[in-house]
Amino acid sequence: MKAAWYGENGGPEVLHYGDIPDPEVGPKTVLVRVEWISIEGGDLLNRIHAAPSSDHHIPGYQAAGIVEAVGNEVTRFKAGDRVVAFDWNGSHAEFFAVPEHYAYPVPEGMDLRQASIVPIAFGTAHDALFEYGGLKAGEFVLVQGAAGGVGLSAVQLAARAGAQVIGTASGEARLDRIRPLGLEHGIDYRNEDIAARCREITGGKGVDLVLDLAGGKGKDLLVKALRPHGRYSVIGAAEGTLPSFDFFELIRKAMQVTGISFGRDMHTPRVHQLLEDLFADVASGALVLPIEREFRLSEVREAHEFVATQHPFGRVVMRP
Ligand SMILES: NC(=O)c1ccc[n+]([C@@H]2O[C@H](COP(=O)([O-])OP(=O)(O)OC[C@H]3O[C@@H](n4cnc5c(N)ncnc54)[C@H](OP(=O)(O)O)[C@@H]3O)[C@@H](O)[C@H]2O)c1
Repeated sequence: MKAAWYGENGGPEVLHYGDIPDPEVGPKTVLVRVEWISIEGGDLLNRIHAAPSSDHHIPGYQAAGIVEAVGNEVTRFKAGDRVVAFDWNGSHAEFFAVPEHYAYPVPEGMDLRQASIVPIAFGTAHDALFEYGGLKAGEFVLVQGAAGGVGLSAVQLAARAGAQVIGTASGEARLDRIRPLGLEHGIDYRNEDIAARCREITGGKGVDLVLDLAGGKGKDLLVKALRPHGRYSVIGAAEGTLPSFDFFELIRKAMQVTGISFGRDMHTPRVHQLLEDLFADVASGALVLPIEREFRLSEVREAHEFVATQHPFGRVVMRP
């Protein structure tokens, strides 16, 4: 099959495209003929920071397509079914082999291009806000990286739950595009002081919950923006560098820091039901996630470069 792979960490230039053996189908495996690959923020983070599994490590968490074959112990899917598939790597390819519990049916009427971008963005946002973030109506939530895939999902889910949503993005024009989705207070992280703006917006109290999608040096300002006993969801590091927390920083505010790993929960019945509900909301138009641009998988370097440097609004997808 055709696939993209790398054998060392680095920028988009470490990516190669060409022929590679097809994945094997075990007894519990669903083999998907990929139609659309969603480039997830984590695909870039892994390429930079996570050691590749081999010289021909196929990256990528998520893709949608048609079931080509199933293992003899698979009960929920058959050849021809439309699914979105998740795994810790392997989506940047013509075929994506995943355990049955990481395959999700696509509702009738939803196209596979749209479906390919739903689970991780909306599911991660949901869990960081509610399942582990404990967000309640009336509370202030600060979404750092609000114009990305997880960020746009979080803004919508938090707003419809009655929270007051503060979000950051690079520039007023981007913030203006997020406002109709539920953003009440926009902060341009490039030239505004996030902590000062949050103090002003919350009447000096500080925000109740932070969703940190960017990591890096920005983390210090997010900690400052938080109220005492506030909650901080560590989700991503889209800025490219990994933050860490200081002992006194944690106890001074008695802050609750929660690491989010949506992938760890994606096999569970809870998440299967959650994704069914989120798919229904996307199908009805109650939730939206724009796709900024499409590439061919053969253009994988350009596609990753575009995501890393061109500030797409929402997602970028590729076709094998
Ligand atoms: N832990 C988990 O379970 C989990 C699940 C999904 C994703 N993630 C991680 O979450 C992060 C976001 O994922 P995604 O898919 O939403 O990525 P994405 O679509 O590429 O969006 C990333 C966003 O980060 C913003 N950003 C970049 N540098 C920033 C900075 N210095 N300060 C503030 N914002 C900055 C960008 O804003 P502008 O474009 O406006 O500059 C962009 O909108 C990634 O690191 C990903 O690995 C983690």
